[in-house]
Amino acid sequence: MTHSINYGRRQFLQYSAFGAAAAMFPELLLANPKSARSSPTPGFKPDVEIEFSAREVFVPILNNGSKTKVQKYFAKLLKGPENTVQSFEDNYLGPTLSFAKGQKVRIYFDNNLFEHSIMHWHGLHVPQKSDGHPMYSIEPGERFVYEYEVLNNAGTSFYHSHAHNLTGTQVYFGLAGLLKVTDEEEKKLGLPTGEYDLPLVIQDKQFNRNGQLQYVRGMHDRMMGFLGDTILVNGKPNAEFAVKSRAYRFRALNGSTSRIYKLGWDDGTPLTAIGTDVSLLEKPETKPYVMLAPGDRIDLWLDFSGRPVGSKLAMYSLPFSGTMPPMFERMQRMRGGGQGGRGMMGGMGMMSGGLGQGEKFPIAIFHVTEKVGDSPKLPVQLVRRQRLTEKDVDNADNPLPIAISERHMRPLVNGRPFSLDEVMEIEKVKVGSIKKIKIFHPHEEHEMASQTSGHDMEGMDHGGMGGRGGGMGMRDEMGGGMMGGMMMAMAHPIHLHGQQFQVLSRKEGHVDREDYETVRHGFVDSGLKDTVLVMPGEEVEIIKPFQDFKGLYLYHCHNLEHEDLGMMRNFYVH
Ligand code: C2O
Ligand code: CU
Ligand code: CU
Repeated sequence: MTHSINYGRRQFLQYSAFGAAAAMFPELLLANPKSARSSPTPGFKPDVEIEFSAREVFVPILNNGSKTKVQKYFAKLLKGPENTVQSFEDNYLGPTLSFAKGQKVRIYFDNNLFEHSIMHWHGLHVPQKSDGHPMYSIEPGERFVYEYEVLNNAGTSFYHSHAHNLTGTQVYFGLAGLLKVTDEEEKKLGLPTGEYDLPLVIQDKQFNRNGQLQYVRGMHDRMMGFLGDTILVNGKPNAEFAVKSRAYRFRALNGSTSRIYKLGWDDGTPLTAIGTDVSLLEKPETKPYVMLAPGDRIDLWLDFSGRPVGSKLAMYSLPFSGTMPPMFERMQRMRGGGQGGRGMMGGMGMMSGGLGQGEKFPIAIFHVTEKVGDSPKLPVQLVRRQRLTEKDVDNADNPLPIAISERHMRPLVNGRPFSLDEVMEIEKVKVGSIKKIKIFHPHEEHEMASQTSGHDMEGMDHGGMGGRGGGMGMRDEMGGGMMGGMMMAMAHPIHLHGQQFQVLSRKEGHVDREDYETVRHGFVDSGLKDTVLVMPGEEVEIIKPFQDFKGLYLYHCHNLEHEDLGMMRNFYVH
């Protein structure tokens, strides 16, 4: 497969407004995305209908009487089973949605914020017009209508703002909520339900003295990712769950913008995972700990059977290293970590909070308060899935590249920054195909060229990487200064819209063995994923189907500061 890129056309697309893009993607109706989506389709008969709105409100988060200004999703169920929408009072989190596979869903989204916004159904496989692409961002007072059938199997996902350039900000200020999908297969398993099936939405925030949220303060926070020093679970600090002596399903979601969690019990008891990103595993997996990157979900089977009443178990984020540039991790250690760590570096505006990436801290306490006789048993087999293999793909020798690099303190994907509607030849995918994709860090420009040969990525030199040459890696003397190349030395949670993928292989990069050991056993790569943590220098191969729907589907870093910096591109499925 050899493509050549027509420079003229690419330039045209790159600078085009919606109207011009519509010429290229007529089926997307980009010419007027708003009027195209502001009213329901008469022929679509929804089983579930929900009216969403996003508003600024004050909610109590800290237990000190203060109220914090947040952005919050409110939802009203117009049609469908009563348990579809479960709202949280006194919380910034959006309601938990419960969908069933096969349901037809219509959602009205009213933007009552003071800025543009759009909702995205992370992990759901929906038509492009209902995926919440940032090009569909609507202005205050406007309405957007989503319509889709739930095609996903049972599992855990979430929805969140995907506002153009404001995704990180709006998610941080509250615009996210949990989304569960159930199906017949799952029901037969007898997994814990109702009060034994609980969310574990983990986020880090930073509050000022008045109890108000603080977000990024400068370029450093954007590049390295914003880290808050207060850990919230389900929207509250110091989480404690009163549990019975039986098994629970906890649906862990990392709803942070950039913090990575390494979930584990303080006493070394292993953790059992039964699901990953909107997907149950074939078999439960027991791990010493699990890594949870921004955007990731893990369904945990937490069994308190046999634990005496009064016992307490602490879930921690255990220490790890290697996900940040070595220099940054050294500074973090120098600072001593933990509380009040705004020492020298904090004073220099180098650190965004008192709690570094990879430091140890408690997430939640589980307090056994009641003894019960009986508990569901952990199934030996969960669901039967055909594992995707290289035989299923049509490009085994020529994987689609997702090359992570940076230039002048800006992250690049395949050598390019984000543009709403730009698509390169290598980003065009035939609908119905199953592709092998290679996520990697090109160390040198020529490597990028050779890694992607057969795809002819020459076009990239034209816009993104050419000219000055050597725009990537530690050699970037320009602009980046001491931060140049640091994004290359970070772990990135790479998320692809559309269908879930299978992780095929990981080839370690330049992370120290010792550092890699602190994360190695926490990847649940056996399940289907829509977000995968790629360690610095690591090469991760995945297999992903592009079925059913045509259009633009995003792929991006789910470190939301990186996403807003433009670490995002489109696949054009045609
Ligand atoms: Cu969770 Cu493109 O997003
Ligand atoms: Cu998504
Ligand atoms: Cu990133």
